[in-house]
Amino acid sequence: MTPSFSTALAPLLRRLEAERAHRLAVLALRLGLAGREARADDPVLGVQALGQWFANPVGLAAGFDKEAVAVRGLGRLGFGFVETGTVTLRPQGGNPVPRVFRLPEDGAVINRYGLNSRGLEAYVARLARLPGRSGGRRALVVGANVGINKEGADPVRDYAAMVAAVAPHVDYVVINVSSPNTPGLRDLQGERQLREILEAIAPERPPLLVKVAPELDEAGLEVVVEACAAYGVAGLIVSNTTTARDGLRSAARSEAGGLSGAPLREPSTAMVGRAYRLAAGRLEIVGCGGVATGEHALEKIRAGARLVQLYTAFAYDGPAIVGRIKRELAAALRREGFASVGDAVGTAQ
Ligand code: FNR
Repeated sequence: MTPSFSTALAPLLRRLEAERAHRLAVLALRLGLAGREARADDPVLGVQALGQWFANPVGLAAGFDKEAVAVRGLGRLGFGFVETGTVTLRPQGGNPVPRVFRLPEDGAVINRYGLNSRGLEAYVARLARLPGRSGGRRALVVGANVGINKEGADPVRDYAAMVAAVAPHVDYVVINVSSPNTPGLRDLQGERQLREILEAIAPERPPLLVKVAPELDEAGLEVVVEACAAYGVAGLIVSNTTTARDGLRSAARSEAGGLSGAPLREPSTAMVGRAYRLAAGRLEIVGCGGVATGEHALEKIRAGARLVQLYTAFAYDGPAIVGRIKRELAAALRREGFASVGDAVGTAQ
């Protein structure tokens, strides 16, 4: 990573109120002030997933670049893929501030943004301006994560409309039915609701993923896996933030919202394993929750993930974490005798 404005900025951002720091970080990336990872990816990190080639399996999770304004800057940091969104059909403001809280003693964040979004139209216009989006080789894999409005939504119609609108511009699309801050959203993981939603989505589209909540029990996860397999969904993102609050020490631990970061790592990795076993090769798994090192990434891969994502550790550590995780992952793969990421997938099962 070349030294940059944003590397120097990281310690300063940690001292600002969390949402303000988030906004400034997105701005720095948008303006191209965030540095660049000069090294090419180690070939051991390359992986075929979702019908395409990823130079490395380390992606940025949804919720950081909700509006798809900083995709190029994020790609330059060395992420193998960037998931934009969650976007909603119509603009909505989200919850009152403050709505993002650091839990530094726990290596965690609680957020209750509530899917603040400037709406689908502006988002699609920005995606359409990304270079190389209309055919040909794409330098960076870009995803779009879509969610429904808090008020006045018709989930079946709205998800179908949003998927159709983003489809020409991205490499994969995520149905978010797991944010804890939109009342009723997680109920859409139920069998009837999810099948209705998936049924209404046109088959001409990039690979589709469903992002699930870590609270799903075995039976609930099986329902989701079977519905996804039946409707040609490519995979699951395991997982979104949790509403659990076990064993936290930080002052903000009782704030309402979704908890992310270190406390989520083990439960979500265990869930990757359950999803991998239930899917039995029919779905690909993206592991997300508490990844902060290459070892954490390899744990998720060995549990069954082909790709991993992070958000909270990136928010704490800044851009340098991307290169560090990739170097650690490459070293760990070699140490454990794996020739590639694909070789390691599911080996802990
Ligand atoms: C999120 N996350 C999230 N997920 C999603 O699908 N849509 C969203 O809009 C958001 N927004 C969001 C905001 C903030 C501030 C955080 C910390 C997280 C969840 C995120 O994508 C990821 O699933 C979890 O944070 C778990 O990964 P980490 O953070 O433990 O690496």
